[in-house]
Amino acid sequence: MAYTDNYARPINYLRVSVTDLCNLRCVYCMPEGGVPKLAHDDVLRFEEIVRIVRLAVEMGIVHVRLTGGEPLARKGIAELVADLAHIPGLDDLSMTTNGTLLREHAGPLARAGLGRVNVSLDTLRPERFRHITRRGELADVLTGREAALDAGLRPVKVNVVVVRGMNDDEVVDLARLTLEPDWHIRFIEVMPLGKQTYWSGNGVVSSGEARARVEAALGPLTAVHGAGEGVGPARYYQLPGAAGTLGFISPITEHFCYACNRLRLTADGRLLPCLLSNIAIDLRTPLRAGASDADLGALLLKAIASKPQRHHLAENALSQSIPMSQIGG
Ligand code: 5AD
Ligand code: SF4
Repeated sequence: MAYTDNYARPINYLRVSVTDLCNLRCVYCMPEGGVPKLAHDDVLRFEEIVRIVRLAVEMGIVHVRLTGGEPLARKGIAELVADLAHIPGLDDLSMTTNGTLLREHAGPLARAGLGRVNVSLDTLRPERFRHITRRGELADVLTGREAALDAGLRPVKVNVVVVRGMNDDEVVDLARLTLEPDWHIRFIEVMPLGKQTYWSGNGVVSSGEARARVEAALGPLTAVHGAGEGVGPARYYQLPGAAGTLGFISPITEHFCYACNRLRLTADGRLLPCLLSNIAIDLRTPLRAGASDADLGALLLKAIASKPQRHHLAENALSQSIPMSQIGG
């Protein structure tokens, strides 16, 4: 059974950032020069991550998602996946990746026990992809996605951060892909986080607006319940006759904090009760000082008990002190 926080929300989902490093520099995530790197020794070792996840699972976590930075930029990632996949009680092990390195990693990850992947992809235009990511190749992501499907890492959900003037003119093209099998697209409202945000105000395209544009071009959306639904905040729909699903994640216009079920572990071993607060509970220091399972368990409970009721992004942009690339979205 999962523990509940002070607002009666059961906490059963842990996102684990395995590295702050990324091979891309998406304009809404990082400045051109990147963000200061963590020192090697500050990053949790695999056995430290495994210990924390095992304890978390004993305390009711059943979903674990590996994030970054870019998780595939961490050396030996398939070994970590194999160790995590063996933890009894962990039902659902997944990863969010930018997809550029999936072609060579998909097979080994699937064999190691990864269940599925989400791939970030904001445009279908190669030139624009280079502009948004400042260095990536669209073809690598498309090939990587195919490799994930071939390896059985299904369903592959594609995350699209929609920013006005950046890619909002592609929502219809992206939504159209869901007419085909195996295309599941989710539009995410961009969150104005920290100093790295490159747009200065009107960049948010609400889910309502994205949805209206899609429906005007491609027909009415029908809500999907059950099978297509994940454990997160997305709401899922289908176009008429579509094989795939279309999801909307609306951190700005529809704060879904009331249903928040998650904790985050940063690459340097801090537990974040909320993406958008600056509360962080250091696990690494006690871990390396010989803390017992009971000591660490108490810190996990402390993180759960310090989950704020909600964020206030719609009212005021936050100045997040930890870069998104260390938190993993
Ligand atoms: N707002 C919304 N989503 C973001 N991501 C990164 N930065 C932001 C932001 N400012 C997304 C990535 C990826 C996920 C891990 O987080 O595109 O899909
Ligand atoms: Fe882009 Fe994700 Fe890398 Fe940030 S961490 S630069 S969003 S690929």
